[in-house]
Amino acid sequence: MKKTEVFQAYQDFIMPTYTRQPLIFVKGKGMKLVDIGGRQYLDFFPGWGVSSLGHCHPDVVSAVRDQIDKLIHLPNNYLSVQQAKLAKEIIFWSFDGKVFFSNSGAEANEAAVKLARAYGRGRYEIISFANSFHGRTLAALTMTGQSKYQEGFQPLPEGFKTVAFNDLSAVRKSISERTVGIIVELIQGEGGINIADKDFVVGLRELCDEKKLLLIIDEVQTGMGRTGKMFAYEHYGISPDILTLAKALGGGLPIGAMVAKREIADTLTAGKHATTFGGSPLVCKAALAVFRAIQKEKLLANAANMGNYLKEKVSALAKKYDSIEEVRGMGLMIGIALTIPGKPIVEECVKEGLLINCTHEKVLRLMPALQVTQKQVDKAVGILDRAMQEATMSQGHPPQSIGGCPPKQCGGHQVTS
Ligand SMILES: Cc1ncc(COP(=O)(O)O)c(C=O)c1O
Repeated sequence: MKKTEVFQAYQDFIMPTYTRQPLIFVKGKGMKLVDIGGRQYLDFFPGWGVSSLGHCHPDVVSAVRDQIDKLIHLPNNYLSVQQAKLAKEIIFWSFDGKVFFSNSGAEANEAAVKLARAYGRGRYEIISFANSFHGRTLAALTMTGQSKYQEGFQPLPEGFKTVAFNDLSAVRKSISERTVGIIVELIQGEGGINIADKDFVVGLRELCDEKKLLLIIDEVQTGMGRTGKMFAYEHYGISPDILTLAKALGGGLPIGAMVAKREIADTLTAGKHATTFGGSPLVCKAALAVFRAIQKEKLLANAANMGNYLKEKVSALAKKYDSIEEVRGMGLMIGIALTIPGKPIVEECVKEGLLINCTHEKVLRLMPALQVTQKQVDKAVGILDRAMQEATMSQGHPPQSIGGCPPKQCGGHQVTS
């Protein structure tokens, strides 16, 4: 198919549910994507967090090759060796409990809602947070604390409440006799890389223990080493009652998981929940390769180290551009909060062969693969610098001039971590 035919087919035959960049990619390897014309791009936002091992990681590719000839799909009324191994692996890295396999993050969260309601025996309400994102299915959408995603889809399911993020007293006030659980992202990804305070998270754990509520941590975006630990909750010294995973879990293949503490997990008895595709031998084999690669290549340490390096480099840019308000993040999940729209900067980066994301209109999001090197960070930040320069000039916010003492370097600006 020629480029123009692809564009036409999208126009004619594919629903317009996405704002698409006019880029057609045909190959990917590691940190690079190659477009239909053979141009290479450095991907600092691989698959919206899915391709955390980079594109076509060799261990994932060989695991899939090995499995695809043997058995691709098996319905969940039979047992599979790969599913058994993967469940053991997830539990080894998380907490004593059991796993339900789904196909996506939204489905993992839906499963968490069903488990919480089944466990609640009449208590059904779930509290979520402003600016959160939990997926596009109806319950997940209702928990998502951003009304723009809900507009036009009312009536939304009952039994959900949204309160201010990082505000423990708001949570306490919103708990009623109907409340069964609280769902939280420790770093709100789609919401603009907002980090949960340690006191808030520890407070949520204590509140859940006190009121006998389930603490559900959505690690669909933060999980699988993204923050420098296998799961972001490890940074907080607590563990959830229910953990949801997807995105990076399958190394590019569609898999999600809902993990629940042992005493809660058995509430979902036979027939209470199911999915036809969830946890097929093929995707489980790929996910096992992901866990192995993370260990073999010491990717948790690399994500922590390169995350610090990337944050330092970007923080240096913040001294140069008034339009950078704040740099925040953990590990390789970095947000650059701007005072100007981020889209033109993303577009400038594309022109120079760098792929990044902008969320919440004004937050640039960088989430490179966990193997990213110092050289690749330097290259990406160099491009970002030029793109910032270009975009800020055209929007009337030139960078701080050379010479003199720019106000930011005189302590007028705080770069937070
Ligand atoms: C934190 C979080 N939860 C849930 C989801 C939904 O996952 P999926 O798109 O796989 O349904 C996302 C997707 O971006 C997410 O970031």
